[in-house]
Amino acid sequence: MTQSPLMITAALPYANGDIHLGHLVEYIQADIAARFARSQGRETLYLCGSDAHGTPIMLKAAENNESPEAMTKRVRETQLADLNAFHVAFDNFHTTHSPENQAIVNEMYASLKANGHIIKKTISQAYDEEHQMFLPDRYVRGQCPKCGAPDQYGDNCEQCGASYDPTDLVDPRSTLSGKTPIHKDAEHVFLALEPMRDFLTQWLAGDALPPHVANKLKEWFEEELRPWDISRNAPYFGFPIPGEDDAYFYVWMDAPIGYIASFKHLADQTGLDMERYWGKDSDVTLYHVIGKDIAYFHGLFWPAVLNACGKRLPNKLFVHGYLTLNGEKMSKSRGTFITAQRYLKHLNPDCLRYYYAAKLNTSPDDIDLNLEDFRFRVNADLVGKYINIASRCAGFLRKHFDNTLSAELDDMDLWQACIGAKNEIADCYHAMDYARAIRHIMSVADRINQYIDHHKPWALAKENASNPKVQAICSMGIQLFRVLSIYLAPVIPSIAESVKTFLNVEHLDWADLDEPLLGHRINAFRPLLGRITSEQTDTLIHE
Ligand code: MSP
Ligand code: ZN
Repeated sequence: MTQSPLMITAALPYANGDIHLGHLVEYIQADIAARFARSQGRETLYLCGSDAHGTPIMLKAAENNESPEAMTKRVRETQLADLNAFHVAFDNFHTTHSPENQAIVNEMYASLKANGHIIKKTISQAYDEEHQMFLPDRYVRGQCPKCGAPDQYGDNCEQCGASYDPTDLVDPRSTLSGKTPIHKDAEHVFLALEPMRDFLTQWLAGDALPPHVANKLKEWFEEELRPWDISRNAPYFGFPIPGEDDAYFYVWMDAPIGYIASFKHLADQTGLDMERYWGKDSDVTLYHVIGKDIAYFHGLFWPAVLNACGKRLPNKLFVHGYLTLNGEKMSKSRGTFITAQRYLKHLNPDCLRYYYAAKLNTSPDDIDLNLEDFRFRVNADLVGKYINIASRCAGFLRKHFDNTLSAELDDMDLWQACIGAKNEIADCYHAMDYARAIRHIMSVADRINQYIDHHKPWALAKENASNPKVQAICSMGIQLFRVLSIYLAPVIPSIAESVKTFLNVEHLDWADLDEPLLGHRINAFRPLLGRITSEQTDTLIHE
């Protein structure tokens, strides 16, 4: 059965800083799903891009004495290079500050307006008199009006996930001047949500959202749904709203549309059909991978916008937790804020990919990168179990059998058992329950090692180096090493590349599981991965 095409997105990173190990949880999580789908021969698009707009970007550029255009262009390139270095393979990485995005935003806004979803209201906003600017979103801090958590941002609460206006905060302060902001009137553009109550209720009752997210969002339905403010006043880095003076689209209005713009930019080069992917009757599966902090925007506003414009909806949102390092939030002052570049100076990216995969399940719980556990886990699983199989078997084949695998399988039952795990492993990959996939794969690896331990090819070779039984056992080991490599390839793509050279094969795709490599000539084995040392993990933190 052919599967529908898959379009998968990861959240667009803000173009004002370096990619760090926290971001990588998500880009790796989505990349594994995309690679797995491609391995199954499924038509797959992995889309992303830079999120270039908003107040923090504008202020950061001013601080750097550069234009926001120049800064976001520069940061986009660095971020993309860092992500690629972790073998995150996007089909396209575009930017929200692009002609494609502006055109689609304007078009969707026109459609929202034409369908009566847009309203205007004059609102009183926080205004910093010293800096002469309205203080949208993150530049006002105070107590959350919903749960009372102190020192929360002006747009949403990190504690309870509530979304609100800066003026709702209790005891607000401008983060620019530290002064209490005054209230000033301005006309704003809103998306009316209450008229979409029935649609949104239905959406939340469906299976696109993880239950914990849906339940949280449902709390908002106990009251009238407040219109969503989609405009911001100058100075602002964003797209001007057509037909308004001094109003820009709020960054969260044009950011998710950036997914469509990234598609469009690619489609313009490759001829993909916009309507097929984004039209109401799309047969393409759409997954968004996001962090729990942005579930509100993707779970409520985004489907509201898509639906109101007559576009397709996402099939699923995969929501992951936050990364902690040795049990704590990464911190610049404690030296535990680890950027992608810093990691790459010391360690192999596939090791981090493996560790994240081993920890990622479908829950929104935070993911801890405990560096000692990381070292043990990678050394025990990847080096000690997986690669060990190849290094135990390859030498005998090279020395006495001209690197040639036997023409038959030595143990058909074991072959069947290892191949028999494939559907279960595929289901885990499908559900992005990678922790379970890895558990299955490692238990297959255990069985293969037991087989080798049991038959002791080294003992047989000692008696008679060219004993055909030695070839049979070592060939079996290599066949099953190939099976494991196919299972693990979405997680450890660069090791899988070296394995292809070693096995002398063109691909390690899911369909390759059907046939062993009988009578096949392989290449000499070269070490695929060294053990991680405690010096390496220590310098990662204390460099
Ligand atoms: N620009 C928005 C997303 C717009 S999507 C239309 C944004 N950018 S971000 O750079 O702050 O974060 C990008 C993604 O990385 C988000 O899904 C966020 O949850 C995730 N993470 C950022 N820091 C993280 C950790 N420390 N741990 C895990 N994920 C983290 O939000
Ligand atoms: Zn709160």
